[in-house]
Amino acid sequence: MTLTIVGSQLGDEGKGALVDRWGGDADVVVRYQGGDNAGHTVVEGGAEYKLSLVPSGAVRGTVGILGNGCVVNPKTLFAEIDNLREQGLDPDVRVARRAHVIMPYHRVLDGIEEEVKADDDAGDAVGTTGRGIGPTYEDKAGRRGIRVADLLDPETLREKLEYAVPQKRALVEDVYGLDLDSEAQRASGSRTQSGDDDSDDDRAAAFDVDALHEEFAAIGERLADEGMTVNCSDYLHRRHEAGDEILFEGAQGTHIDVDHGNYPFVTSSNPTAGGAAVGSGLGVTTVGDGEVVGIVKAYLSRVGEGPLPTELDGDADEEALADEIREKGGEFGTVTGRPRRIGWLDLPMLRHAARVSGFTGVAVNHVDVLAGLDELKVCTGYELDGETLDTVPTTTDRWERCEPVYETLDTWAPFDSSAVAEAGYDALPEAARDYLEFVADEIDTPVYAVGVGPDREETVELTNPFDE
Ligand code: IMP
Repeated sequence: MTLTIVGSQLGDEGKGALVDRWGGDADVVVRYQGGDNAGHTVVEGGAEYKLSLVPSGAVRGTVGILGNGCVVNPKTLFAEIDNLREQGLDPDVRVARRAHVIMPYHRVLDGIEEEVKADDDAGDAVGTTGRGIGPTYEDKAGRRGIRVADLLDPETLREKLEYAVPQKRALVEDVYGLDLDSEAQRASGSRTQSGDDDSDDDRAAAFDVDALHEEFAAIGERLADEGMTVNCSDYLHRRHEAGDEILFEGAQGTHIDVDHGNYPFVTSSNPTAGGAAVGSGLGVTTVGDGEVVGIVKAYLSRVGEGPLPTELDGDADEEALADEIREKGGEFGTVTGRPRRIGWLDLPMLRHAARVSGFTGVAVNHVDVLAGLDELKVCTGYELDGETLDTVPTTTDRWERCEPVYETLDTWAPFDSSAVAEAGYDALPEAARDYLEFVADEIDTPVYAVGVGPDREETVELTNPFDE
């Protein structure tokens, strides 16, 4: 069977811990979208593994696949694999030959486009992670992308670079008005002084066909030498036919999905469950026949721009509460280190997520973080222009104007997470159980698991989806 794990909110719901936990019962863990914008922290036996590209399951020795729907920065991939090897692990990671490659010019363009949008009066800067995700997906849709398979064939790689790179150079120089030649001179001057010949800031080298060809053909050789590339659809089909369990590890979250999220403050891929079929090549009926579990954070956090109706930023008390939750929950970006914005749990957002992905269950994380608060609110709906809404409006403008309707629930005292995880659901404080049951009722989806701490063991499991 298959299990698809989806972020229900804005990313950072703590998917890694559940993927890691249930990944132990899977034979293959597949990422189907996104790239190294996805920060996952997996805590195992006291050791902490920070991953942004390698599927979390790799920490437990399960085969990890980066599906065709992913955009892959091979330098990040190799750095993470080397790092895990240094920590004594032996990750088995394969990459779809149909996946697109994030090239250095994509990262440069991501930065330039954000700067330009920030300066523009429309103020539409997205606050991207700067990893080149959007520009790579643009090239994929524009049919000028470079795929993993192209890295394995130096001649094809050169042809593709010769087509794409001059266009990128023209975009930077003619549209954005940057002079790459003078940047090249500055870069070579600073290289001579610093001895650093592999700087990410070297914008000029990112547009040099020969340099790119040399670097990425060598990457292709390593991928081939290590037998890391696969025909993803074919591989997964065979594993599924053989009776293997497949876990799809969604990155980011529903409300930053390019189709179903808060456009344009979104990432450029489909974290929602439909993306699992498209982004892996396993049939939609196979994926749909399995379990789809939404991961929910017991409150909200958001990195980057965009509306957050329940944001705790109204006055000094709310800001102090946000600070308390941010500190207790460690709400700082895994990839960028940015402090995350904080808000109360928002049920209209969860209803939308449950509908779009067809959740069969949810896992609610960070329930320990809410312990000991003076007050606890949940947004059950919105008021907008005299109407009450139970789900998220389709435009940013309308969502921004929504006034949350709150229900105040009882708070609970801090508890011993390890003891509760061991003893099970009934050991949770009564008010915490009421909170969980209230949420489950409102979104008409059962709770499969409750996260009470960052370690994989600190999870109260009610249902293992692989047993369903
Ligand atoms: P991009 O994915 O780097 O293009 O960024 C687009 C938007 O998605 C920005 O608001 C990012 O902060 C957000 N984003 C991307 N990846 C993540 C993630 O893993 N967690 C939370 N937000 C993310």
